Amino acid sequence: MITVIMASPRKNGFSSGLLTDFLNKTNEPYKIYNAYELSAAPCIGCGYCKENGNCVNRDLDELFDSILASQRLVIATPIYNFTVPSPLKAIFDRAQVFYEHPVQGNRKLHLLVSCGRSGEVSIPFTEKIVKTVFDNLGFSEYSTEIQNYTDDTEAKLCP
Ligand SMILES: Cc1cc2nc3c(=O)[nH]c(=O)nc-3n(C[C@H](O)[C@H](O)[C@H](O)COP(=O)(O)O)c2cc1C
Repeated sequence: MITVIMASPRKNGFSSGLLTDFLNKTNEPYKIYNAYELSAAPCIGCGYCKENGNCVNRDLDELFDSILASQRLVIATPIYNFTVPSPLKAIFDRAQVFYEHPVQGNRKLHLLVSCGRSGEVSIPFTEKIVKTVFDNLGFSEYSTEIQNYTDDTEAKLCP
C-alpha cells in the first residue's frame, strides 16, 4: 500500500505529471490525499500532543493512519518560495506529534518535486525538511525525483 500526498493546486501541472509517471510504474494499490483539499488546521504549538500522544485537531487522523499503515509514501509537490506550499507545510508541522512520540519503521519516502528554476538551493533544503519530519514516522529510505526549470517550459493549462 502506498499513501500519496499531492501538494500542487494545479491538477494537471508538473507535479501531477511526475506523480502520474510514478504511479504508472507501480502495481501496488495507492490512496491519494490532496493537501489543498485536506486544508490541515495549522499546528498551534499548544503542547497537547506531548502530553496526550495525539493532536487537539483530529482532521489529519486518517492521513497519518494511512501513512503508518503504508510501506511507502509519495509526496508530489512544487517548490513555493524555496520550500513546499503552505497546505503541505501545515501537514509537516502537524507531524509534531511524532517528534514527541516517534514511531519506528523501515518505510520508504519518494519525493517528486517540480520547480521553476534550478532547485539548487530549494531542493536540498526541502529534502532536509522532509527527512527531518518523516524520520519520526519510521521512514529510513528516501528518493527524490526532480523536474526543474519548469518556468522555461510551456506550462500545462490550469487548473
Ligand atoms: C507562489 C509560487 C512560488 C514559487 N516559488 C518558487 C521558488 O522559490 N523556486 C522555484 O524554483 N520555483 C518557484 N515557483 C515555481 C513553481 O515551483 C513551478 O512553477 C512548479 O513547476 C509548479 O508546479 P505545478 O505545475 O505542479 O503546480 C513558484 C511558484 C509559485 C506559484
